Amino acid sequence: MANIIDQTLQWIGGPNGHLSLIDQTLLPTQLQTIDCHTVEEVWEAIKVLRVRGAPAIGIAAAYGVCVGIQTLDLTRISPDQLSQRISAVTTYLATSRPTAVNLFWALDRMKDKTTALLATDSSTEQIAALLLKEAQAIHEEDRAMCHAIGKFGSELLQDGTGVITHCNAGGLATSEYGTALSLFFTAQDEGKQLTVFVDETRPLLQGARLTAWELKRRDIETILICDNMAAQVMREGKIQAVVTGADRITANGDAANKIGTYGLAILAKYHSIPFYVAAPSNTFDLKLESGAEIPIEVRGADEITHGFGRQTGPDEVNAYNPAFDVTPAELIAGIVTEKGIISPVNRDNVLTVLQS
Ligand code: MRU
Repeated sequence: MANIIDQTLQWIGGPNGHLSLIDQTLLPTQLQTIDCHTVEEVWEAIKVLRVRGAPAIGIAAAYGVCVGIQTLDLTRISPDQLSQRISAVTTYLATSRPTAVNLFWALDRMKDKTTALLATDSSTEQIAALLLKEAQAIHEEDRAMCHAIGKFGSELLQDGTGVITHCNAGGLATSEYGTALSLFFTAQDEGKQLTVFVDETRPLLQGARLTAWELKRRDIETILICDNMAAQVMREGKIQAVVTGADRITANGDAANKIGTYGLAILAKYHSIPFYVAAPSNTFDLKLESGAEIPIEVRGADEITHGFGRQTGPDEVNAYNPAFDVTPAELIAGIVTEKGIISPVNRDNVLTVLQS
């Protein structure tokens, strides 16, 4: 299918190469990539949302480990020194954002790989090359998981359906097809016509700037609405399903996603519209029993009072800016994963599908 986004994240070159990524802060008006040659640049790109979306953050962090060890002279250092540097780099990258568990999952996977490689007689140069392969595997596996999510989830969407989505869970947030948007792209590949209502997603407008941009590139019928219009659009009978992504899902099926998702789920319940979450298995944090334990990122007040360069609140007004909220499992009709659909959403079904 044309218009696939393949530059969201790209590793350029071999172990001494660098990470190139679409600077999502510039969209929808400029499609530009930036190069990250240092772990500090990767950290900054995650922190300020040049790269964002749970799976993409994880992939970027895995590549961040690869650039982070380039400060070492691998021909001279000991395995212990390499191990210490990787520990420092992963600890640092883990401070970039708190909510999306994919970040910590990817960093843990890179650390586990390092431990396994250090137990072999591989040279430090070989370990660096194999760590790059691990990051590339994380990237490729995400691509496959997104396609599988789309295949399972598209069955939930009939031809002619009106759907609503929130934030951006597309190719810009993952590899290629996205999670929530993968359902729409796959349905389109199967010949179904959907109308997608896109919440603009205040305060940073990931829906308006990113999701609407992705859907338009794919020629999917797209209708942009302000977040506070969803209830009215549902009442008008235009919506048959809601589909969003997730940043962290706990063992009982509670799902953290972009602020506003919880409200949308309540609206969907009131209007008897099924609310679906689409996410890969590495978005689940089974160490947490319920959503109450999920750390919620609180971002700067200026994103509300001075969004996109214009002052929109009085001088020195207080503002509160939680970037995520948690939708309780009871409001979720199904969680679409690469292993199948979890429905009804409860602890037993989460474990059964994830372990299949
Ligand atoms: O703050 P963001 O833009 O990183 O928030 C992203 C979201 O909330 C997405 O919906 C979520 O990460 C799922 S991405 C497949």
